[in-house]
Amino acid sequence: MKINGKQYRTIWPDPSDNTRILIIDQRKLPHEFIIVPLCTAEDSAKAIRDMYVRGAGLIGATAGFGMYLAAVNASPENIDAELTQAAELLDASRPTARNLRWAVERVLKTITTGQSYEEKRNTAYKTACEIADEDARFCKSIGEHGHSIIKDISSAKNGGTVNILTHCNAGWLAFVDYGSATAPIYAARDAGIDVHVWVDETRPWNQGARLTAWELQQEGINCTLITDNAGGHLMQQKMVDVVIVGTDRTTHTGDVANKIGTYLKALAAKDNNVPFYVALPSSTLDWELDHGRDIPIEERSGNEITTITGVTKGGIIETLQLTSPEIRALNHGFDVTPARLISGLITERGITPANREAIHRLFPEKAVSQKSEGHK
Ligand code: MRU
Repeated sequence: MKINGKQYRTIWPDPSDNTRILIIDQRKLPHEFIIVPLCTAEDSAKAIRDMYVRGAGLIGATAGFGMYLAAVNASPENIDAELTQAAELLDASRPTARNLRWAVERVLKTITTGQSYEEKRNTAYKTACEIADEDARFCKSIGEHGHSIIKDISSAKNGGTVNILTHCNAGWLAFVDYGSATAPIYAARDAGIDVHVWVDETRPWNQGARLTAWELQQEGINCTLITDNAGGHLMQQKMVDVVIVGTDRTTHTGDVANKIGTYLKALAAKDNNVPFYVALPSSTLDWELDHGRDIPIEERSGNEITTITGVTKGGIIETLQLTSPEIRALNHGFDVTPARLISGLITERGITPANREAIHRLFPEKAVSQKSEGHK
C-alpha cells in the first residue's frame, strides 16, 4: 500500500543486510514516519508488546521474523534450546492475537527438519518470509471475496455511495499489506464503486483516528472520522450500509474477539438490520477454543485512558493528562462478539456463515487435524 505515493509493506528484511528486519513505528503515526530495525528476538517481542507493530497479521509476521532473528543470534551448538526460549518470549508478548502463537509454532515446526545450524537458520528465514508473503496474499483474496458484498449494496443503491463503518485498524497497517477489513474496500474502489468509510476513533489508543483514517487518506479513499459512540446513531439514521471489522482471534465456532467496542457495534447493527461482517485470514482462527468467553483478553495500562497523545502546533509529539491523576481506569483491550450477531466471515477462501459447521466445511483440513488431536 502507498505512503506519499510510495509502495510499502509493514515489515520487510533490510535489503542490504537480511539479519535486520525493518518495521514502521506505528506509535508515531500519523505525525512521524519512522522505520525501525529489529535485530534480535527481544527487539521483536518489545516491538509487539509496546505496539510499535500491532494488528493480527503484523503481530504474526513480526513473531515469525523474531524466530528467525533468534536463529541468527543463536550459538550453533544450542540453537534448538535458544529457539524454544525465543518462542516463549514472543508468545508472552501479547495474549489475544491468535496469529502470534500460530506464527511461532509454524517456524518452530519447520526448523526441526533442518540438520545443521545453517539449515535451521535458512529454514527460519524462509518460513518467516512465507508467513509475511502469505499474509499479504490472503488479505488480497479477502478483498476479492469481500468486494462482492460492497458491489451488491452498490447495485441495490443504483450506484449510490456505499457507506461502510469500521472499528479500530484492520487495515494494511495491521497486516503485511492490504489489511483484512479494508481489503474489500480497496478492491471495491479499484472496481470503480463509490465508497465512503465511517472510521471509529477507537479509544484509548486511537487506532481508528491515527491509523485507519491516515491509511485511507493515503489511498485516496473517502472517509470521515466519528467518535466511538456515534455508530448506533448513524445506523438509526440509515447512514451505514454495512459494518466490516477485523479480528484478533476467532474461534472455530464463530465467536470473534476484536478491539473493545466491537460488540456494541454488532448489537447496534443487529437492531438496525445493518449487515455486520468480520474479515480475517485463516491464521486468525483458533481451532482449540470452542467458546469466545475463553479467549484471553488483554488488560492494558489505565494510563492509556487517562492520558492522550498528539502533536503540538510546533510539530512535537506530546502526551497530556486528561483526568485527575488519582483516577482509577480499567482498560480491557478487546471484547467478544458472539457468532449469532455476525452476518458472515470474509476469509481468503470465501465468505462463510459464522458457525462451526460452515467454518469446518471451508477449512476441512484444519477441522480434521482438530478432531484427531482430540478437541470437541
Ligand atoms: O491492540 P491492537 O491495535 O493490536 O488491536 C488489534 C486491532 O487492530 C484490532 O482489534 C483489529 O480490528 C483486528 S486486528 C486485524
